[in-house]
Amino acid sequence: MDDLDKGQNHTVRDIGLADKGALLVDWARARMPVLAKLKEEAERTKPLAGMRVAGCLHVTKETAVLIEAIRAAGAELSWSGCNPLSTQDEVAAWLASEGYSVHAWHGQSTEDFYWCIDKTLEFKPTLTLDDGADLIVRVHGEKSEYAAGVIGGTEETTTGVHRLRAMAAAGDLRYPVIAVNDAVTKWDFDNVYGTGQSTLDGIMRATSVLLSGKTFVVAGFGHCGSGVAMRARGMGANVIITEVDPLPALRAVMEGYRVMPMDEAAKLGDIFCTATGMEDIIVGRHFESMKDGAIVCNTGHYDCEINITDLEAQATSVRTIRQDNEEFLMPDGRRIFLLARGRLVNLAAAEGHPSEVMDMSFANQFLSLCRLAAEGDSMGKQVYDITTEQDQALATTKLDTLGFSIDSLTDEQIAYQDDYTVGT
Ligand code: NAD
Ligand code: ADE
Repeated sequence: MDDLDKGQNHTVRDIGLADKGALLVDWARARMPVLAKLKEEAERTKPLAGMRVAGCLHVTKETAVLIEAIRAAGAELSWSGCNPLSTQDEVAAWLASEGYSVHAWHGQSTEDFYWCIDKTLEFKPTLTLDDGADLIVRVHGEKSEYAAGVIGGTEETTTGVHRLRAMAAAGDLRYPVIAVNDAVTKWDFDNVYGTGQSTLDGIMRATSVLLSGKTFVVAGFGHCGSGVAMRARGMGANVIITEVDPLPALRAVMEGYRVMPMDEAAKLGDIFCTATGMEDIIVGRHFESMKDGAIVCNTGHYDCEINITDLEAQATSVRTIRQDNEEFLMPDGRRIFLLARGRLVNLAAAEGHPSEVMDMSFANQFLSLCRLAAEGDSMGKQVYDITTEQDQALATTKLDTLGFSIDSLTDEQIAYQDDYTVGT
C-alpha cells in the first residue's frame, strides 16, 4: 500500500488522475437523467439529512453519479469498492479530490479489500449499501460493534440478495434490507442488457477475437446469462447454454439455443462465460477436455465459478499475454486463456454496464436509501422488495427521458378488465 495516495479521508491509486475522472463522471452524468431528476428534488427536500452512508459497490463513473446524489440529499458517506479489480482509479481520484471519503483502487489484495471496507465503517454508518453483501456480512461478523447504529441497508446484486435471504432465514439479520436487485427496473434491465453488452465488451477488450462463427458457451440462462447469450448470438456466435433449472433451460431451447451439460459443452466451446452465481461451474475435468485456445471467463459476482486452483494445478506454465488475459499451458500442449482471473469480466476488463442502464439501478438504490431513512426504524429485520409503485414510476420516468410515451387504459377498458360477466 506504500505506492498509494493516502489522505485523511481517502486511499486511492493516484489523485493526479482526478481530471481524467472528472471527464468520465461528466459523461456518465449526462446519461443518467432519472437519477438527475431525483437528485434535483432531493437538493431541496434533503431526504437523507443526518444519515451516514457506508457504500461497498464498484467505484465506476456511474457510481460517482450515485454518490453525488447521496451527498446532495444531505447525507455524509464513505465508500469502498466491492471487487478487487473493478475500481476505476480515475474516478476514485476524482471522488477524493472532491472531498468524498473513498478507499478503493484497482488491483487490490483480499486483505486490502477488507481493510477498505473497515475504513468505511470507522465512519459509523446509519445506512449500508452493498453489492454482494460483503459490507453487511462484515457488520454482522468481525465488525458487529457497528450494527446497532445502522437503521437499514440496500443490496444491489443477485448473489448479495441470496446471502441476505439466507441471513434472514437463519434469524441473523440485525436490520432491514431492501433488495434493490429484485426490482423489475433493475433485474430485467441491468442484469440482462447491461451484463449482456458489457460482458461482451470485456471479452473483446481482453482478447480482440472475432466472435462471429465461434462456439460460445454460456453457463446459466438467468437474467445475466440470457443477456450474454443474446448479445453473443447477435455478434454471430453459435451459442450453447448450460443450466440446472429445467425452466430457464426450456426457455433457452425455445429461443433456439443448444442446451447441454457442461461436460459436453466443454469439448465444443471456443469461448466460455459463466453467469450463475454458483461455485465450480468449470472445473478440472472440463479444462481437460477443452479445445486448444479455449477462452474462459466469468461475469457472475464472485470468482468462484471457474476453478482456478484446478487450472493452475493442471498447467505446466502460465504467462500473461495481455491485460486481463493469461495463458495456461496444459501438459499436452493445449492452451487455455483465462480472462480477468475469473472475476467479473465486464468490470475488470471493461467499464461495467453503460450509464443509461445504471441510471435505473441507481435510482432504485437512491429511493431505497430514502425509504430506509424515513421508515427504517419501524421496519422489521427482513429483506424487503422494491414496491411496484416505485418500479412503475421509474419506468415511466425512464420512458419519458428516452422520449417515448405510451397509451393509458380508458375508463371503459378499466371497467372491462374488472367485469367477469363479459365473454364471447
Ligand atoms: P439468476 O438467478 O437470474 O440466474 C442464474 C442462473 O444460473 C439460474 O437460471 C440458475 O438456474 C443457473 N445456475 C445455477 N447453478 C448453475 C449451474 N451449476 N450450472 C448452470 N446454471 C446454473 O441470476 P442473475 O441475475 O443472472 O445473476 C447471476 C450472477 O451474476 C450473480 O452472481 C449476480 O450477482 C451476478 N451479476 C453480475 C453482474 C455483472 O455486472 N457482471 C450484474 C448483475 C448480476
Ligand atoms: N455493476 C455493473 N456495471 C456497473 C457500473 N457501471 N457501475 C457500478 N456497478 C456496476
